[in-house]
Amino acid sequence: MSGSTVTPWVIGNWKMNPVQADAQQLIQEFKELLQNNDISEQACRIGVAPVSIALMNVKAAFENAASPVHTVAQDVSRIAGTGAYTGEVSAELLKDSQIQLVLVGHSERREIFADSPQILCEKVKNALNAGLTVVYCIGESLEQRDAGQAEQVVLQQICDIAPVVEAEQWKQIIVAYEPIWAIGTGKTASPEDAQSMHAAIREGLKQLTPYGQQMAILYGGSVKPENAVELAACPDINGALVGGASLNAGSFYKIAQAFAETE
Ligand code: PGA
Repeated sequence: MSGSTVTPWVIGNWKMNPVQADAQQLIQEFKELLQNNDISEQACRIGVAPVSIALMNVKAAFENAASPVHTVAQDVSRIAGTGAYTGEVSAELLKDSQIQLVLVGHSERREIFADSPQILCEKVKNALNAGLTVVYCIGESLEQRDAGQAEQVVLQQICDIAPVVEAEQWKQIIVAYEPIWAIGTGKTASPEDAQSMHAAIREGLKQLTPYGQQMAILYGGSVKPENAVELAACPDINGALVGGASLNAGSFYKIAQAFAETE
């Protein structure tokens, strides 16, 4: 039990998975689990982030779920509004389709698609101005951790976006700390290491905004049912961003339940 009043969020990041038939089955299985034993929004908020072409189908499929399941976009354009920008999806178009949340700055975007701090600032700014909630992902590489720079790197990633966040917009931000070396590797930060980084992030946020104490800071990187309970017990870990384990309905449900129960 955290003593924190922050309602946790557990968000499944499906990345470039799964094919439609598998997505429908996954959703069906997850809805059945919620039907048998629902998870209230007060205990834990749940989201899933499918590929952009599936956003509307996934949203529709969850409409009658026993507990709300929010549909989250995995990325947003650096360009606002509408216009001649082939291949892009703007924050306004997400909002227009009733998508309320978006991931920004996932390490795969930073590393594979060259999302620089400047590009991320543009994405964050557009998303916030369109009224979306941003799940802003940060995290250090193994080299940076081994060099003793993990905290500095992560705090800098938060400071990077500070200039584009207006005072009241910090309420629209969820932070997801995902050490890159723990993503998809089966390695998780120990609960002690994760908590200590989350506490440092919390302090950093509190220096930037009075809302820092209430902001959700999620942990990500090989979260699974086996480690979710311990992670959920850490005072500054307010949920999880789950990759691989979110593609299994039972595993994802157990992770959400772990966070709901520590509330
Ligand atoms: P993982 O991915 O749970 O498969 O490590 C987490 C993420 O990249 O968000």
